[in-house]
Amino acid sequence: MHSPTERETILTAATPQSIELAGQLLREGQLVGLPTETVYGLAANALLPEAVTEIFKVKGRPQDNPLIVHIADVNDIYLLVEDFPESARKLAERFWPGPLTIIMRKSGLIPSEVTCGQSTVAIRFPSHPTAIAVISAAGVPIAAPSANISGRPSPTTAEHVMSDIGGKIPLIIDGGACDIGVESTVITVVGEKPCLLRPGAVTKRQIEAVIGEIDLSPAVLSELERGEEAQSPGMKYRHYSPSAKVTLVRGSLAAFSEFLESNASDGTYALAFEGDETQLPVPCITYGREGDFSSQAHELFSALRKADELDARRIFARYPEGGEGLAVLNRLLRSAGFDVIEL
Ligand code: TXA
Ligand code: MG
Repeated sequence: MHSPTERETILTAATPQSIELAGQLLREGQLVGLPTETVYGLAANALLPEAVTEIFKVKGRPQDNPLIVHIADVNDIYLLVEDFPESARKLAERFWPGPLTIIMRKSGLIPSEVTCGQSTVAIRFPSHPTAIAVISAAGVPIAAPSANISGRPSPTTAEHVMSDIGGKIPLIIDGGACDIGVESTVITVVGEKPCLLRPGAVTKRQIEAVIGEIDLSPAVLSELERGEEAQSPGMKYRHYSPSAKVTLVRGSLAAFSEFLESNASDGTYALAFEGDETQLPVPCITYGREGDFSSQAHELFSALRKADELDARRIFARYPEGGEGLAVLNRLLRSAGFDVIEL
């Protein structure tokens, strides 16, 4: 039985009708779950403070963690930012539409509810055709965080969205599993030197090929000291966590297997790579192939959710080696609360 306050959520494929409905709901100030190439987003009209406030309520999102504004036409940017610096212009030209979010100084049009009072705004032009169609149908810029309950792994399927926030929003559009599987790369071009705040499918190296050397926020790979200010507020919260405690274990498959022999107990699961399961002494959940970061990114959040479904009590995860895997390593470190064992 539904409580009287709970609504039915329509779950539907992308059709001209469902896209038109999504656009209409968004214009009216309602929330819609929609696929993007990275993860599913919880969309609202970015120009309506009440709609934006509702996002924070539905997600249980901390009040100081600002939202990304999504556009479907680069020219819309001039309304949203105070200036569009050359570095940002070059990045937009190279990577938009696509999984890159650029932080710039905000214009007066952006409500402070979106930016949590900050003078900057994060902008992204996603490449998923359904996301583009819905934003265009809405005819307004769209604020959209990942469509999970705060703290949980980001949703990469419509079922994930349904299980987190079904009943709380009127419509979820199902676009199948997201291609990339981890959230967009976030870079700020405000300040002396551009700085990477969140790694994603667009890598630091690819960005540097376009605008020269950039900084890497220390919060990407290490825990912020108590009292230290996060450049990107999202970086200070515990994230991507299944209920079980997660520890990253760094070493060869043989060493990992030996480690599990002596450290596993009831309810222990290994989070490891495809094929590892036959070599390990405990039940295994896999996240992609060893050394193949796009397959790992594609599987990671589903794997973390699966751990909950299986009622895992303790998770030891194989460490994803290699520089281009920064996005996957960053998400795993956060889900593990930076707990790493070196073998
Ligand atoms: O791939 C994505 O970016 C997905 C899809 C739905 O587009 N969205 C997403 O949004 O991941 P969210 O809200 O889960 O993550 C936004 C991140 C947070 O870490 C937030 O702190 C940061 O961007 N952010 C947003 N505005 C910012 C600003 N003005 N300054 C610094 N960081 C900002
Ligand atoms: Mg998120």
